Amino acid sequence: MCGIIAYSGPRQAVPVCLDGLSRLEYRGYDSAGVAYVSEGAMRVVKERGKVSVLREAVSGNGAHKSRAAVAHTRWATHGEPSRVNAHPHLDASGGLAMVHNGILENYLELKTEMEAEGIRFDSQTDSEVLVKLIGRELARGLSMNEALAAALERAEGSYAITLLDRGNPERLWAVRNKSPLVLGVGEDECFLASDVTAFLAHTREVVHLDDGEVVEVNGGSWNVTRAPGRAGRRKLVELVDWDVQAARKDGHPHFMLKEILEQPKVIRDCLTGRVTADGALRLDEVEARPVPSKLTILACGTSYYAGLWGKYVIERLAKVPVEVHVASEFRYEEPVLGPGDHVLVISQSGETADTLGGLELARERGAELLGLCNVVGSSIARGVDTVLYTQAGPEISVASTKAMCSQMLMLLLMAVSHGRRNGSLAEEAERELLDGLLGLADSVEESLDTIRVQARRLAREYAHASHFLFLGRGIFFPLAMEGALKLKEISYIHAEGYPSGEMKHGPIALIDRDFPTLALAQRDRLYAKVKSNLAEVRARGGPVIALTNPGHDLDVERAWEIPSLPEPLNTFMVLPALQLFAYEAAVALGRDVDQPRNLAKSVTVE
Ligand code: M6R
Repeated sequence: MCGIIAYSGPRQAVPVCLDGLSRLEYRGYDSAGVAYVSEGAMRVVKERGKVSVLREAVSGNGAHKSRAAVAHTRWATHGEPSRVNAHPHLDASGGLAMVHNGILENYLELKTEMEAEGIRFDSQTDSEVLVKLIGRELARGLSMNEALAAALERAEGSYAITLLDRGNPERLWAVRNKSPLVLGVGEDECFLASDVTAFLAHTREVVHLDDGEVVEVNGGSWNVTRAPGRAGRRKLVELVDWDVQAARKDGHPHFMLKEILEQPKVIRDCLTGRVTADGALRLDEVEARPVPSKLTILACGTSYYAGLWGKYVIERLAKVPVEVHVASEFRYEEPVLGPGDHVLVISQSGETADTLGGLELARERGAELLGLCNVVGSSIARGVDTVLYTQAGPEISVASTKAMCSQMLMLLLMAVSHGRRNGSLAEEAERELLDGLLGLADSVEESLDTIRVQARRLAREYAHASHFLFLGRGIFFPLAMEGALKLKEISYIHAEGYPSGEMKHGPIALIDRDFPTLALAQRDRLYAKVKSNLAEVRARGGPVIALTNPGHDLDVERAWEIPSLPEPLNTFMVLPALQLFAYEAAVALGRDVDQPRNLAKSVTVE
């Protein structure tokens, strides 16, 4: 949701911010804007549309002179995407510019109060209310820190804000509450951004801010203050080990394709330091604690499907019962959870508001919290008792791909570790699995080119369909749901993932010759069952593409053969095939693959 970047230092601030915005565009892309002070005047340039439109608008606006700027790319929550609703917004004096990510929940009440005092509003946004609230306190003669404290005392909801003041044109102030914001520290310069990819080209030194902390920045100097009575950690400058290259497309037409094709590397990186060359597993973070007698998993979207997949492997290998919840539901339920219970929170970004909400509820109940995150230092990573990092590198495409691969791999390692420690997994079976894992990256790598060619051919043939069904059984049911999610979010083709055995209980009524099915029919334990389910679909005239293996005996319209691997490793071959099918369908339909309509990468609002 919305991306913030701000800069203070010796360079031309506006181009630095525009470059940062381009890297943040995956967070939101309906409008963008920048504010800077030039010749004593606050200048705000904003446009509906992508950052490229803003770039055009900024040129020749005296922008080269300023040494500090705040900029924003928006994903609308309140008020339609338009120029007037784009950020930055100004206070009533016009001297204070603010960019905001989050939702001010009580904005209507505050707006009515300020309107009664004669303050005028230009936009329909909650953000404008927040900056006018801060400006009102400044107008009463308070310092910036005092004004922030007084205004934010009244603000309910989530926010990460950054402010630029006409009277202090090289200085920035920022504060966060349940929305991501990170400080980048360079030589004589500082950056504030929603995530590190915005400034990775300039510095890898970061300071993670806690809720309620105010940071004041002036060139290379920065100072963090905390509201009285609010907890926070000692501020340390930490080094991010992601490199700039990892956040670039590397010659690929889309980030999504690059990230799908990175999966062999992701598998290798995830295993590094966790499975040794002679096949021994070391999962220190998990093994420092006893094996849980029950596990509750919380996540959203693709991470939720990874969690569902994890349930199968943990229950099979470790005999630990697992419940998996969509975090947005869980957070408002009455979960049967208490001290000593184990909760695993899965999130690529570590900033998903619903997942954070679930985490907070689990914490209130006294549960032990383990996190599976990709982004180091993210809110979820910092909010759990123990974090396991997936080491997948930056994921930029809105459609999550390589992150799921890394999450599944970590869940598999957890299952093996639990199973070994509680005696559910025989030594021989453990060795076989870990040996298989050591060869997995090579197997996937050798097959990806062929899988992509097949995916492109099939996607071009079927992309005209208005609906698609993805069928799977057992460990492939979560993958069927993920395949459907990928297809709908980037190609806008309606798709559902369903357990194949359930078709006869209703959905088979939908089947006709215009309703294709992509069936996950790997030659494993449940192959014969899936084969019968597909025969039922075929008998009703439904076209079936079966993602199967050489040697199959399926009677389907298209058999898409990929190499066989033993279960559950075969899911790591099926996953990129599904992702590539969705990708190629979206490309065939001319969709905006990396920035699909109505979506944003990390969903930091409810
Ligand atoms: O960063 P998270 O893993 O917490 O994100 C969860 C979902 O928002 C995310 O997986 C979303 O569903 C993606 N668009 C899926 O491709």
